[in-house]
Amino acid sequence: MIELTVNGQSQRFDGDPDMPLLWFLRDELGLTGTKFGCGAALCGACMVHIDGTPSFSCITPLSVAEGAEVTTIEGLSPDGAHPVQVAWRELNVAQCGYCQSGQMMQAAALLAETPQPTDEDIDAVMSQNLCRCGTYPRIRAAIKRASGQEEG
Ligand code: FES
Ligand code: FES
Repeated sequence: MIELTVNGQSQRFDGDPDMPLLWFLRDELGLTGTKFGCGAALCGACMVHIDGTPSFSCITPLSVAEGAEVTTIEGLSPDGAHPVQVAWRELNVAQCGYCQSGQMMQAAALLAETPQPTDEDIDAVMSQNLCRCGTYPRIRAAIKRASGQEEG
């Protein structure tokens, strides 16, 4: 039996402990904001926080999340008011949107660790998240806005 907390709620799973966390979130809990892209830790569409650390849920066995606090895009804020979410809306960052929950989870973790990131800080971290639509300039601008720095 795996026990973990997802978005503040206790959860249990008595199936295969090697099942990727992504499938538990999407198929068992119905938290479909977290996306499947590559399944190989290459795109970041599946990014969630595990005990505050940005993590690729597509390659994380459920057993690794035993006892952990997992946060998905649905749990980032109760009302969509996290500074990253606000900036994303204000700057209309999303295009097709597929990558964006992963982008926001990565950005939120970056700002928790580095509240005033430089362009280099942003590029170093956000390079783990791919966007087929090429929204990278707006992502960077939104991170700057969320951190209280406007793009210069
Ligand atoms: S789906 Fe997990 S990194 Fe691409
Ligand atoms: S907004 Fe389309 S993949 Fe990023």
